[in-house]
Amino acid sequence: MSEVRAVTPQAREDERSLEQTLRPRRLTDDEYIDQRKVKEQLRILIEAARRRSEPLEHVALYGPPGVGKTSLAHVIAVEMDVPIRVTSGPAIERAGDLAAILTSLEPGSVLFVDEVHRLPRVVEEVLYPAMEDYHLDIVLGKGPGARTLRLPLPRFTLVGATTRIGRLSAPLRDRFGAQYRLDLFDATDLEEVIARAARILAIEIDREAAHEIARRARGTPRIANRLLKRVRDHAQVLHDGRVSVAIAREALGALEVDDAGLDNVDRMLLRAIVEKFGGGPVGLETLGAALSEDAETIEDVYEPYLLREGFIQRTPRGRVATERAYGHLGLMPPGGTPLWERS
Ligand SMILES: Nc1ncnc2c1ncn2[C@@H]1O[C@H](COP(=O)(O)OP(=O)(O)OP(=O)(O)O)[C@@H](O)[C@H]1O
Ligand SMILES: [Mg+2]
Repeated sequence: MSEVRAVTPQAREDERSLEQTLRPRRLTDDEYIDQRKVKEQLRILIEAARRRSEPLEHVALYGPPGVGKTSLAHVIAVEMDVPIRVTSGPAIERAGDLAAILTSLEPGSVLFVDEVHRLPRVVEEVLYPAMEDYHLDIVLGKGPGARTLRLPLPRFTLVGATTRIGRLSAPLRDRFGAQYRLDLFDATDLEEVIARAARILAIEIDREAAHEIARRARGTPRIANRLLKRVRDHAQVLHDGRVSVAIAREALGALEVDDAGLDNVDRMLLRAIVEKFGGGPVGLETLGAALSEDAETIEDVYEPYLLREGFIQRTPRGRVATERAYGHLGLMPPGGTPLWERS
């Protein structure tokens, strides 16, 4: 059900070139916006490694989709002034695939593994000694006569990205010297993201309009950029191209993104909890079945923002719709006075 969403935080095929254009290049505050703590720590880590002329420690980046993990991996390579090689967990199927990548790295490189939680077990095992002290253990022969050959590797930095750090096996997780969590942005920081994107794309936009888009971008820079582009299209086709707050509101209304940044899918989800499951608690699997969506997608993609904004709550027995959810849907909380009639 996510194909047509204007506010899905996941990347879409048709947005590749936009993402490339808008990807931050450096760790400076005007390029890589927000995530202050992460930037601060990373700057120290990078500077220390540079001074010692050592490769950077292995870095794990985790957080919801569209908050800058891939961008940060590229930024790290630029800041270290080293080449980057990009791959992903599901793309490395066999131990040999990983060996081929590792042996062909230029010394000092960043190896970026997206969706690192999806590396097959056999591949992970090859990765351990490679991460620890840059070698491969190759087993020759079978049974009692088998020998292990130790093959040295160029030094490298593994940067792993994942939306679910909990899915990493403990041994893999332990081998990342640094682990950074990237969080959803607040509206003021998203405003900066929008201002930056508008400069790059030469879009004329009011501060107020930027604020309006930011407010509805569910804490996600990818969505902020996408909404900006949609609003710009709207302004160009139906108006004179300048984005004012009135035009922003009109365009966002046309996309059915409401005041709180929720779209049809979010409202459907809240409605399902309220109407089909009496407000909850309802387990993720059950909720997923009711919405024809898998539980994992609900958890990774839809839920973080709804949780942060207090539309739903997590309880040991499942998800619960909050008063805010009832209020937002214009419904009455169980046994309660409608919110708009309370003093
Ligand atoms: N800190 C930031 N400052 C400015 N723009 C950002 C920042 N983080 C992300 N963006 C913008 O959001 C877009 C999506 O970011 P990115 O692809 O790095 O997210 P991601 O966390 O890797 O997402 P996914 O989990 O889907 O892989 C980028 O193209 C960039 O334009
Ligand atoms: Mg990414």
